[in-house]
Amino acid sequence: MNNTFYITTPIYYVNSHPHIGHAYTSIATDVLTRFWKLFGADTYFLTGTDEHGQKIVESAAKSGIEPQEFVDQISQEFREMWPHLHIENDQFIRTTDPEHKACVQQILQKIFDQGEIYLKDYQGLYCVGCERFLDEAELEDGDCPDHQIPPESYKEQNYFFRMSSYQDWLVEELKHNESWVYPGRYRNELIQFLKAPLQDLCISRPKNRLDWGIDMPFDDKFVTYVWFDALLNYASALGWPEGEKFHKYWPHVHHIIGKDILKTHGIYWPCMLKAAGLPVFKKLVVHGHWIVGGSKMSKSLGNVVDPLAMKDHLGVDALRYFLLRDMSFGEDSNFTEELAITRYNGDLANNFGNLLNRSISMSRKNFEGCVPPLGEVGDLEKDIRNSFIKGVETCRENILAFQPHRALEHVAWLSSQVNKYIDSCKPWSLAKQPEERERLGTVLYTALDMARILVGLLGPVMPEKMCEARKALGLGAELILFEKLTPGVLVAGAELPEPKPLFQKIQVSFADETPEKAQVPEKTKTKQPEMGKEWLAFDDFQKMELKVGHIRSCRKLENSTRLLCSEVDLGEGHLRLIVSGAAEFYTPEEMTDRRVLVVANLKPIKLRGEISEGMILFSDDNGKLVLIDAPNKVKPGVTVH
Ligand code: ME8
Ligand code: MG
Repeated sequence: MNNTFYITTPIYYVNSHPHIGHAYTSIATDVLTRFWKLFGADTYFLTGTDEHGQKIVESAAKSGIEPQEFVDQISQEFREMWPHLHIENDQFIRTTDPEHKACVQQILQKIFDQGEIYLKDYQGLYCVGCERFLDEAELEDGDCPDHQIPPESYKEQNYFFRMSSYQDWLVEELKHNESWVYPGRYRNELIQFLKAPLQDLCISRPKNRLDWGIDMPFDDKFVTYVWFDALLNYASALGWPEGEKFHKYWPHVHHIIGKDILKTHGIYWPCMLKAAGLPVFKKLVVHGHWIVGGSKMSKSLGNVVDPLAMKDHLGVDALRYFLLRDMSFGEDSNFTEELAITRYNGDLANNFGNLLNRSISMSRKNFEGCVPPLGEVGDLEKDIRNSFIKGVETCRENILAFQPHRALEHVAWLSSQVNKYIDSCKPWSLAKQPEERERLGTVLYTALDMARILVGLLGPVMPEKMCEARKALGLGAELILFEKLTPGVLVAGAELPEPKPLFQKIQVSFADETPEKAQVPEKTKTKQPEMGKEWLAFDDFQKMELKVGHIRSCRKLENSTRLLCSEVDLGEGHLRLIVSGAAEFYTPEEMTDRRVLVVANLKPIKLRGEISEGMILFSDDNGKLVLIDAPNKVKPGVTVH
């Protein structure tokens, strides 16, 4: 792992107030930064606001105030929001800062002097929501697909940046540097887009139409196009071209963005950097959208969720946990309060919170309010310790691979393993048998020690709650160091204060339930468990990732009459190999090109030398396997409930 990490969020437009979408990017960036710090890196976290352009002028006019006053107010709202959400950025940049303006002008002049900027007459379709000219091909029924309004037609003289001359270079970069854009499917999207000729970029606005921007240094009748101005914040913030911070952090720059601004970051930005003679960013990390009521949550569509309202209901740290845990990084995700509460009750109140409470309470009760001594360690303890040693590494790998949801999924799994361990060791029975006192100590010590590791892993996500949890475990308030996230570090004899539940269960009223759940027939809801039948808790069912897959190719496995090996597209930007025991019922040709249902988070397993990464679902009619088809119109990677 390199030990320096410069990480940025987009700088948000100040045309309206912060919402959950912005909060998600900033929280995800904060969580990643805190993890990198935990792993020992020197980090620098930049966020800020994007304050020029037509959209801002229009919003200021609607509010009846001057643009400067307007941007001052809303930028302040963003700046004040972040500490409430436990976000600790190192710097907050505004594009109206004089240092930023000077940097933009310097770079424009440099590129102009190189002959890469020219003046021409231009006619184009401009979407104010996107703040960019759209190609005809991008429109849906004449509307901008993101903002669902028709773009405006402009005809005017403007300055252009010779972006087209960087097309071949950019395609080569994208092709050769596989990990440059993550997840890979966004890289494919960029490569796909670059199959058509790249147009030169219009980078000015005549002042007689828009004067709220940075003056073009070589022609004061024009201001700079807002995206050309905004993207440069990432370099100007570090003091380009001279700053010490610039030299230290620029080579390690990671941009975290939503997929709505993939084109500007994946195409305009590298071309601009190349023209300015700057090294391109290290990595572009792209996440999906929070969807509310079927559409992307956005200011323009007016379906926004206020992060502060959610925080009041759930608590900040639980909100952070939900956002990181429920969005598979890179994919879209539905936002409902009920999903957030279900996750809270399942993972935090019932699983982790319960583990913490009961292990502390039982230890206090039986060991004079202290952490019990660890006696002889048996197989059960060895197993759980091993799961944790591997688990901490798995979490680290997932974070370094920008998959925070997988890291948290693993933490929840580890927590449920400790609960299972407690259930099978039955400390409440051991407590009744004086001769089992050593064993009781070992079980409770192990539970507390594993809870301590979980607290350490959850620290970057829930900083305040995990500080309380550390105190509850008799540790200091300070963060647990990464090298201490290993079994056996907890000190026996430390005093345990009286536990207060960290996560009180939230009751959900029936009216709040999602339509899918509300539609469950009354009979099913009230049905009592059948004798002898083991019911699966809804939370357990939710642990399964069921997805629509598209079988791209299939072959028979050598030396096997039963096994087929398929390459399946799950919308991840790469194909997965999945082995199924269906060769007696299907030929590879019959399997190929079908939409199927796949269990996507099954632990990979080696079968006849192939690693199978999931399971394709079949119905089993007395031993005859029949493939379960998913409808063809559903995209690969879509979740099945
Ligand atoms: O585009 N789900 O600013 P912006 C997830 N100023 N993330 C969301 C989201 C949603 N529904 N809605 C917004 C701009 N976001 C430019 C950026 S950078 C040089 C200039 C997040 O206020 C996500 O990170 O429209 C998205 O990319 C960003 O907010 C867009 O914020
Ligand atoms: Mg936007």
